[in-house]
Amino acid sequence: MRILGVETSCDETGVAIYDNHHGLLANALYSQIDLHADYGGVVPELASRDHVRWLLPLIKQVMAESGSDRKEIDAIAYTSGPGLIGALMVGAAVAKSLAFAWQIPALGIHHMEGHMLAPMLEAEPPEFPFVALLVSGGHTQLVEVCGLGRYQLMGESLDDAAGEAFDKSAKMLGLDYPGGPAIARLAKQGRAGQFIFPRPMTDRPGLDFSFSGLKTFTRNTIAQQTQDGLIEPQVKADIALAFETAVAETLTIKCRRALEQTGYKTLVIAGGVSANLSLRERLQQMIDRESGRKLFYARPEFCTDNGAMIAYVGCQRLMAGQQEDLEIVCRPRWPIEELTPIDGEQY
Ligand code: KG4
Ligand code: ZN
Repeated sequence: MRILGVETSCDETGVAIYDNHHGLLANALYSQIDLHADYGGVVPELASRDHVRWLLPLIKQVMAESGSDRKEIDAIAYTSGPGLIGALMVGAAVAKSLAFAWQIPALGIHHMEGHMLAPMLEAEPPEFPFVALLVSGGHTQLVEVCGLGRYQLMGESLDDAAGEAFDKSAKMLGLDYPGGPAIARLAKQGRAGQFIFPRPMTDRPGLDFSFSGLKTFTRNTIAQQTQDGLIEPQVKADIALAFETAVAETLTIKCRRALEQTGYKTLVIAGGVSANLSLRERLQQMIDRESGRKLFYARPEFCTDNGAMIAYVGCQRLMAGQQEDLEIVCRPRWPIEELTPIDGEQY
């Protein structure tokens, strides 16, 4: 089965073609980062308009790159939530219209399920069951994953998502959007131990997160270190490192707890923040401390938003016989636990 995948939930237009026999055949991405950079964050209306501009050219590009004739495409998978409603509607309308014209099915996919299963596109995919840490611009969640579509939320952020905290702290440090990669770059020049940031909610049991206090801590530290409106570049790098370390350690502590609670040996990390090297290193150290444990993540371009993950999940769901009618429905908010299981196995 050959699937065209379309991702337009936020500020990247992602399109890909995935084939269940031959794997990923083509993948194209247009990032709107430059468009939103002047505003320090995503402007929803601008995002929607840019998806309109890029979606069809990118679809043509992946069709050509994969050498696919339109008769070889069996179905279209598109992100139907969660995300920005206008941006989602663009992808859904294009996917449904094209599917109608080509007389093939179209299926709406959950964006976070896409992220969570993106590591399945790698040469060594994880095996069920596992604990998944989903860390993106909009979500920080720990999920018990028993099989395809069998998800149990174990914990989540009570306020800001990890990526959001990176983005907001980066803005305070005068760095460009998106803040995660910018903080990671600056942190490389930071001196360890100059500032100690809190590890929120690690002093009590449970798997929930809170990152808004860390953001406030960044603001206060910057204010304390600013003299006559200026802050030393080295001090900025020290703050970036202290912030990144605090987020990475907090996430690692909660992942360790989730593994202990479930007894699972496999941890999968996904979403934009899972591209962070400091987080990966800390998690790997924690995983290596107990034999039999394994850590999985996707290549960097499949950690952030992309069409390949949507094409992959679409393929799994369509092969399981899932269908939907022609009505265009998007869900800006959509709990991952409401997804339908797509295999018969019980764990
Ligand atoms: O998954 P994603 O591309 O989009 C959403 O679904 O939100 O995640 C984007 C988020 C942004 O907040 C960005 O700053 C963060 O992921 N991010 C990173 C890194 N790369 C992207 N955060 C920390 N370190 C990185 N290397
Ligand atoms: Zn995403």
